[in-house]
Amino acid sequence: MIVALNNKSNLTKEEFIKYLEELSTINTKHKMILCPSSINISLFNLDNISLGAQNASNNVAGAHTGEINSKQLKSYNVDYCLVGHSERREEQHITSQDTNKKIRLLIDDNITPILCVGETKEQRIHNNYKAVIKEEILTAIEGLSDKEVEKIIIAYEPIYSIGTGIIPSNEEIIEVLNIIKSILPTNKILYGGSANEDNIDTLKEIDEIDGFLLGGLSLKVDKLKLFLEKI
Ligand code: PGA
Repeated sequence: MIVALNNKSNLTKEEFIKYLEELSTINTKHKMILCPSSINISLFNLDNISLGAQNASNNVAGAHTGEINSKQLKSYNVDYCLVGHSERREEQHITSQDTNKKIRLLIDDNITPILCVGETKEQRIHNNYKAVIKEEILTAIEGLSDKEVEKIIIAYEPIYSIGTGIIPSNEEIIEVLNIIKSILPTNKILYGGSANEDNIDTLKEIDEIDGFLLGGLSLKVDKLKLFLEKI
């Protein structure tokens, strides 16, 4: 299984250094990826976990104040990068066209994109979640070769599940995973949204899941260890 940790905008320098010490004690067969807040990336020093970023610029180096581009990320040994997380889609107005540009640049710099897709509660209620997921994927991969598309990891995160403790039924999750597989039959797919050490027993019954993207749980290393033991 792949377990990606999304620290979001958390952990000061001192907190992150302590956190790395805790993470260094993790001993697991699973593939771990840590996506720290950008400012903490240069402090990363673990060899039991791969390094990811939470975002990359839509642009190459140049006059783009506040942006961090994929070449810079690679120069700090970043091997994975979240793309299109719903918090960035909502707060920074990232579009699917933006995710397409980011993915293109990341792949060119040999960084594996983790494309986040997922519907809002409203989109689910109005039954257009299938179209939303398809659009988020098809636009993000536009113009890429089959070989490039194969490199992308997909993270299905129902937006109403993120940080809320509300998780769809396994049947609902499987339905969406099959929609994703109908477009991308061989790509790895993670589930994200309130996954934790308590609900993992139910979630792990889903064979179609190749791993998890963890937000809140990423910050609680003791509970994360329990989670890792259960998968
Ligand atoms: P959560 O966040 O695990 O806290 O719900 C997941 C995410 O946003 O990636």
